[in-house]
Amino acid sequence: MARKVAVITGGNSGIGYGIAQRLLDDPPYPHFTIVLACRNLQRADEARASLLAAHAAELLERDDDQATTKPDVDVQVLQLDTSRPASVLAAARDIRRRFATLDYLFCNAGILPASSIAYLRAAYYIFSAPHYFITSSVALNQVRGQLTPEGLGLVFATNAFGHYLLIRTLEPYLFNRPADHGSEGDGTRIIWTSSNTSAHIGSTGAFRPDDYQHIEGPNPYESSKMIGDTVSMYLNQRYADKPVWSFITEPGTVASNIYAEIGNWLLSLIIVLVNYAVSGRQRLFSD
Ligand SMILES: NC(=O)c1ccc[n+]([C@@H]2O[C@H](COP(=O)([O-])OP(=O)(O)OC[C@H]3O[C@@H](n4cnc5c(N)ncnc54)[C@H](OP(=O)(O)O)[C@@H]3O)[C@@H](O)[C@H]2O)c1
Repeated sequence: MARKVAVITGGNSGIGYGIAQRLLDDPPYPHFTIVLACRNLQRADEARASLLAAHAAELLERDDDQATTKPDVDVQVLQLDTSRPASVLAAARDIRRRFATLDYLFCNAGILPASSIAYLRAAYYIFSAPHYFITSSVALNQVRGQLTPEGLGLVFATNAFGHYLLIRTLEPYLFNRPADHGSEGDGTRIIWTSSNTSAHIGSTGAFRPDDYQHIEGPNPYESSKMIGDTVSMYLNQRYADKPVWSFITEPGTVASNIYAEIGNWLLSLIIVLVNYAVSGRQRLFSD
C-alpha cells in the first residue's frame, strides 16, 4: 500500500505537536510519514526526539497483540518559515522532491504577538461575558504594525498568506497523483487551525478591506484567521473538480506557547479557571 504523508506547519509546539502525537500513536494508514514543518530546525529536532520517545513509551504500555502489528510510521523535519515567501517556496520544492504525494497539510503555524495583558478589559469580560473572554483575545493588547523584511504584515504573512502561497505553489503536484495513489476519493486534505476569534472580527466589523493585512488595526490575529477561513472556502471553489479539499477547524482553548512572550502562565491560569467556571455553569443548565 502507498505511503501517506502529513505535513504539519508549526509541528514542534502546542496544537501542532499534539496533532503529530495523535497521528504517530494512531496512524490512519499502515505506511505513514509525519513531517514537522518548522521555522527553527533545532526546535523541530527536539520535538521529533520527544515525540518518538513518548511514542516508544506508549507502545510499551499497549498490549502485546497491538505491538506485533506496529505500523510503519516515521517522523521527519522540514524547514519552513511561513512568514518568509522565499522559505515557503524552498519548502514547496523540498516537499515535491521528498514525497510522491502530500495527503494531509495541516496549516497550523500561527502567532499572536501581544505587548501586555489588558487587565481592566479582561476583568470586565470575565464577569460580563466569560465565554467571549475564553474564546477571544480580548484580554490582550496586540502589537500593531509589525512587518516582515518583505513589507508584509507579520501576523497576516505567518498565519494566512504563507500557507496560501505554499498551497498555490504546490498546485500542479497536488493535482497529479501517481496512479498507485489514486483510488476514488483519494486526494489532499488541507486542514486549517482556525479560531473562534475569526467569527468575532466578522461580527464586530473590525475586518478592514482597505487594510486586509491589518497592519494599522488593533486585531491582526483575528483578521489573519478570518482571511484563513475565507481562503479555505475559496480553495474549495477553486478545486471543485480537483482531488483537494480544504477544512477549517477550531481547537478550543488550549494552553500552549502562544502567549509565551507575555508570561503565559498567568493568563493560562485565568483562562483555565474561567473555562471551568463556564463549563460548570453550562453543565448546571443542561442538567
Ligand atoms: N492555543 C489556543 O487556545 C488556540 C485557539 C485557537 C486557535 N489556535 C491556533 O492554533 C495554532 C497553533 O498555536 P498554538 O496555540 O499551538 O501555539 P504555539 O504553541 O505557540 O505553536 C505555534 C507554532 O507555530 C510556529 N510558528 C510561529 N511562527 C512561525 C513561522 N513564521 N513559520 C513557521 N512556524 C511558525 C511556532 O514555532 P516556534 O516554536 O518556532 O515559535 C509553533 O510551532 C495557531 O494557528 C493558533 O492561532 C490556538
